[in-house]
Amino acid sequence: MKKPLTCIEDYRPPAWRMQTIALDFDLDVEQSWVSARLHVIQDPAQADVGLRLDGENVELLEIRLDGRVLASDEYRIEGALLFLDAVRGEAVIETRSRIRPADNKAMQGLYLSGGTEQGFLLSQCEAEGFRHITWSIDRPDVLARYTVTLRADRARFPVLLAGGNPDGAGELADGRHWARFVDPQPKPSYLFAIVAGRLAVIEDRHCTAEGRLVSLKIWAPAPLIARCRYALDCLKAAMLWDEQRFGRNYRLDVFHVVATDDFTMGAMENTGLNIFNSKYLLADPLHATDDDYRHVLAVVAHEYFHNWTGNRVTCRDWFQLCLKEGLTVYREQEFVSEQTSRTLRRIEDVRVLWRNQFSEDAGPLAHPVRPSQYSEINNFYTATVYEKGAEIVRMLATVLGRDGFRRGMDLYFDRHDGAAVTVEDFLAALGDANQRELSPWLAWYTQAGTPVLEAQGAFDAQTHCYTLELTQSFAPVATALPRQALPIPVALALFDAFGNRLKIERNGVAGDIDEAVILLDRPRMSLTFRHLDHAPIVSLLRGYSAPVRIAQRGDWADLVVLATHEDDGFNRWQAADGLIRHLFMAELQGDARGAPAFGAWMTGLRRAFDEADLDPATLAEMLTLADEITLGESLAEIDPPAIHAARSRLECSIAQALQTELLACYEQLAAASMAGAEPVAQGQRRLRNACLGLLCRADPQYHALALRHFDDAVCLSDKLAALTCLVHGQALAAQNALDTFAADYSTAATVMDRWFSVQATLPTANALERVRALTRHAAFRWDNPNKVYALLLAFALRNPVGFHREDGAGYEFIADSIRRIDRITPQVAARLTTAFAAWRRYPPTLRERMHAQLMRLQEAAAMSADVTDILARSLAHADEDGSLRP
Ligand code: BES
Ligand code: ZN
Repeated sequence: MKKPLTCIEDYRPPAWRMQTIALDFDLDVEQSWVSARLHVIQDPAQADVGLRLDGENVELLEIRLDGRVLASDEYRIEGALLFLDAVRGEAVIETRSRIRPADNKAMQGLYLSGGTEQGFLLSQCEAEGFRHITWSIDRPDVLARYTVTLRADRARFPVLLAGGNPDGAGELADGRHWARFVDPQPKPSYLFAIVAGRLAVIEDRHCTAEGRLVSLKIWAPAPLIARCRYALDCLKAAMLWDEQRFGRNYRLDVFHVVATDDFTMGAMENTGLNIFNSKYLLADPLHATDDDYRHVLAVVAHEYFHNWTGNRVTCRDWFQLCLKEGLTVYREQEFVSEQTSRTLRRIEDVRVLWRNQFSEDAGPLAHPVRPSQYSEINNFYTATVYEKGAEIVRMLATVLGRDGFRRGMDLYFDRHDGAAVTVEDFLAALGDANQRELSPWLAWYTQAGTPVLEAQGAFDAQTHCYTLELTQSFAPVATALPRQALPIPVALALFDAFGNRLKIERNGVAGDIDEAVILLDRPRMSLTFRHLDHAPIVSLLRGYSAPVRIAQRGDWADLVVLATHEDDGFNRWQAADGLIRHLFMAELQGDARGAPAFGAWMTGLRRAFDEADLDPATLAEMLTLADEITLGESLAEIDPPAIHAARSRLECSIAQALQTELLACYEQLAAASMAGAEPVAQGQRRLRNACLGLLCRADPQYHALALRHFDDAVCLSDKLAALTCLVHGQALAAQNALDTFAADYSTAATVMDRWFSVQATLPTANALERVRALTRHAAFRWDNPNKVYALLLAFALRNPVGFHREDGAGYEFIADSIRRIDRITPQVAARLTTAFAAWRRYPPTLRERMHAQLMRLQEAAAMSADVTDILARSLAHADEDGSLRP
């Protein structure tokens, strides 16, 4: 099935709006009845456009116009549209329909989480799920006030929840009960939500800066509720932070959060009723790693922050998705940075950007942060929209400064509260509040592709001047649309050969400073730095001030200086990463140990272990090599076994060179394994586990250490780190450890996900056989997205050696899996399909085999619109702006 293209230039304001919508549900597992009462009003300027309602898999039982039942010839249903051509001006439309939650495996609309007997009902509407619940106008720029009444059997569904404020509840005959909710703020349909079933609750409250007392409740199936306390604390911290940092207060009386194991996404920001994938909500030491804790903090905050960036100020259309997602990711990053470690969060975000967004941008699925067309909108919740979208907001915050950015955000909220807006509106608000013209920034949103930044320096000993030539360009593409130069903030500092920071004195710019942020808003620019005795070392893109590729990372000796002395923690890591990449290239072409950079950098790292004020998490990151995907992404041709072999040899050489320091550090941090969840302890554990990982690479004798680590672990971070060492090191004790782990955690779904992932990412050509066998494991389920992500997506995206094995069996297996999953949850199948997108970049044999599977899928009958869209774009040639040529 193929959906037609929706194009941004075809946008028209809605001809009909809904002022109010009243929904009455009679809920049950197999079937539920929905009565909807829509008060619709026509735009007088579009008097010729008839009323149309959206609906899919919603069985219409009755429809009334202004109280009168319509005969079957007074309306017509064509596909997913209901036409009411005769209606004009203003009307009340009432429908009665039936939906089937238990049959809804796609998890869009109303569906069942858990079994028929014990499970609960919940809804998911973003992006276009509301039309699976009732007939209505399902687009984000139609905002209505919602009144929702739920009725159900009290014993089977004791808890009844909907977004908005509670507005009464009571008993009905025959053991049934009801509850009503009113959302005072008009909202788009994608933010509607209901939940019904047997759920346990934990409660707290928060008094907002405006003085409103908000009741906070987290709901989960009873066995999980004890693990929700941490999330509740995160929620309170996020509410406080948004008040203090952005002056944003919550304005409903209640804020509910519900946990489910059955969710295609991470979490969803429905007004007053957030719904979370339990992997991003549950956290206790036995069931969550340190990273999990930080993800819970991040996702709880992210969904809460949407209350202002997304919900109260929403998107005019789905092209503007980055307006809520990119901005909210940025806010979440800032929150987590301030609550934990800024350097660590920045390193993590940049690693994700390089691995996921740069590769997306370099392949056939590339698209601008604001796409100009889509066939299936669900396929545009991408790294580009989220991560690059957040980077654009970060750059704007950099150039406007903290106060200027806050002024801009204040104006944005003031102007647009209760409205559905565009990226242009966002830029206008930020610009108007700062008397700046920000329209050149629109190009960041409309041009696909990763910009390349080049820096060429020249020192003149006579004049004591250093000239730096900055150039921006784009990777060459097939068609040459004229490119607009982007405004690129380049934060830089200068160092001497001993790692001392030099004052920056620029020609024509008064004052001397430590760091300069240069706005490169032209194709090229020349800067002169004065009063220098020697050529300085330039530390470029401090804090990663722009999401660009650096053309050449400079001399390795300079990188060693920066990786040893840079006081911007992020750029210190960036220099270390540059050295790793340099050594990796040396290893690909021969032997990295012979390269002069190797010895120099090992000496540098050895010293880093003794540095008292180096944050352990940063050191851990400096010891963690870029992954195979990121390393491959920067090569012209991706040869997975060659990349894996070179990276492994390099890792082994580094580990052997540092063996003494690694062991000493491991022993010295022994106490960290006992400590709690605070950032310092987390950083120490991270470093200790990085040391253990490297030691196991240096010599299999350390598997004994890993086994002890495994047995002694009192938190999941340590347990999993040890398990990964044993399994990926193919230690004799590996199977035993896997069995013990599975026995200990058999009832903890999110922990079993990790157990599947460790095995799915085993970097050997025969990982496939193991993955195939694991699909028959009792804990695996084809209809559960988390299980599919943990086993199959992890294999396809994070196990290059296994997936890309020579005979193509990995491809065939994943293609078969896509067909199977597509009949259940098309969104999940579509994500799995992206594993084939970069097929053109692999060596000929692999390329042909990937292509063959794409063709096979394309020829298969009855594939979903979701998968069809990914296939079509993967096989087409993309224009420069990401649009498809016919
Ligand atoms: N609004 C999204 C969730 C969503 C995405 C629902 C696509 C339906 C379709 C939510 O705010 C979100 O962005 N969730 C992320 C996690 C977040 C921390 C980046 C997710 O689900 O991955
Ligand atoms: Zn979001």
